[in-house]
Amino acid sequence: MGGVFLYVFIFLLALILAYNFLGRGKREPQKRATLPPGSMGWPYIGETLQLYSQDPSVFFAAKQKRYGEIFKTHILGCPCVMLASPEASRFVLVTQAHLFKPTYPKSKERLIGPSALFFHQGEYHTRLRKLVQGSLSLETLRNLVKGIDAIAASTLDSWGGGHVVNTFHELKKLSFEVGILAIFGHLDARYSEELKKNYCLVDNGYNSFPTNIPGTPYKMALLARKRLTKILSAIICERKEKKLEDKDLLGCLLNSKDERGETLSEDQIADNIIGVLFAAQDTTASIMTWIVKYLHDNPKLLEVVKSEQKAVRKSNDDEGNQPLSWSQTRNMPTSYKVVLESLRMASIISFTFREAVADVEYKGHLIPKGWKVMPLFRNIHHNPDFFSDPQRFDPSRFEVAPKPNTFMPFGSGVHACPGNELAKLEVLIMIHHLVTKFRWELVESQSGIQNSPFPVPMHGLPARFWKESTS
Ligand code: HEM
Repeated sequence: MGGVFLYVFIFLLALILAYNFLGRGKREPQKRATLPPGSMGWPYIGETLQLYSQDPSVFFAAKQKRYGEIFKTHILGCPCVMLASPEASRFVLVTQAHLFKPTYPKSKERLIGPSALFFHQGEYHTRLRKLVQGSLSLETLRNLVKGIDAIAASTLDSWGGGHVVNTFHELKKLSFEVGILAIFGHLDARYSEELKKNYCLVDNGYNSFPTNIPGTPYKMALLARKRLTKILSAIICERKEKKLEDKDLLGCLLNSKDERGETLSEDQIADNIIGVLFAAQDTTASIMTWIVKYLHDNPKLLEVVKSEQKAVRKSNDDEGNQPLSWSQTRNMPTSYKVVLESLRMASIISFTFREAVADVEYKGHLIPKGWKVMPLFRNIHHNPDFFSDPQRFDPSRFEVAPKPNTFMPFGSGVHACPGNELAKLEVLIMIHHLVTKFRWELVESQSGIQNSPFPVPMHGLPARFWKESTS
């Protein structure tokens, strides 16, 4: 009898040990996961004041130095986990992207339009993303080179004569026109003027305090957004009548049918057109402004870029002043490295936001459901472990490909930028016209940064430009 008890006792003991080793052992890290280190600041306001009273990159860099690559904070009423490592960013944006949804303030969503793809996840996002990507594919872009070339040439044409130009504002005109070209192909001037006028008001109100008080920038932006819907509706109506199978974004959106044969509504189309214009304009204008500055500050490099671009220009002049060709834009190696290095240095999308849809554990850290998560691209791009002497502007570093997931100027994963090839093409064409036709001087010698909200050189980089002889 005693033997039976002993067997039962040993069997139970084995069960408990197995449970500990196999079952509970697996779940244990979940229980032990703790919030990342960091400070949550003052009640409610958290560390918002610290973030907005200084350069955000200084704020994030100081935190990273103190707490490491993952730390918590509290900003604009939201608890946040910041991620400054390539692996953690990949976890959030790529491998476990389904656990983190995009998140934007409602006031901004109202201005862009709630159906714009970047507010969504899942089936609707995938459908819209395919359409946007299709309209910005390399195949489509090669047909845009001539149009972008003409826009760049005419925008820069007004710069000569040595008068002061606000470089960022001028380049916003360029990126807006290119956005219109990619979205509509050729658009009647009366429509593009109306779109520009009202879009400017939306842009103006985007970063202002959201209120319905008449006369405030936000309220004016909301009213302009309603007018934009009407203008777009008229354009859509005209396009439908013509029954064209255009490959531009509007054509792709109009012709799309889901598996049930359903087309997109006019509101869905309008929201995505405004969304793409918004995503395309300030970002591209900002990087082009930085390039004007970096080339100015690096005269030896400027000479190398100039000789590369002048060789391209000469080959075209010999054939009768042709516009740039697609293959020429694909063969500008030094200028291309300047673009990449500028994207790294300026890191104009310094970070992005997601929200955890469940409690998530990452390397023993708990990211609670509802918390914001911010992959910090700028910190990764400025980490000396990945980019030696990171504050030095050195395009030659891109002769060797960066380590995986360390260079993400266009984000990563399901929401990565579908406009990245268009942006790079536009920037290369702008560089071509800039360096082959102009010399320039900066009006302000100080090198401050203005976050509006993208980092732009202080005051939009006021500069004087003079036309050079084209020989
Ligand atoms: C230098 C210029 C640009 C930069 C640095 C840039 C950067 C980015 C980044 C980092 C994201 C991902 C944001 C996130 O994950 O939260 C993004 C998304 C996006 N970008 Fe760009 N972008 C640029 C130009 C453009 C252009 C020219 C277009 C269109 C013509 C465009 C359209 C979009 C769209 C539609 C999204 C949302 C994609 C989605 O949610 O699936 N961008 N961009």
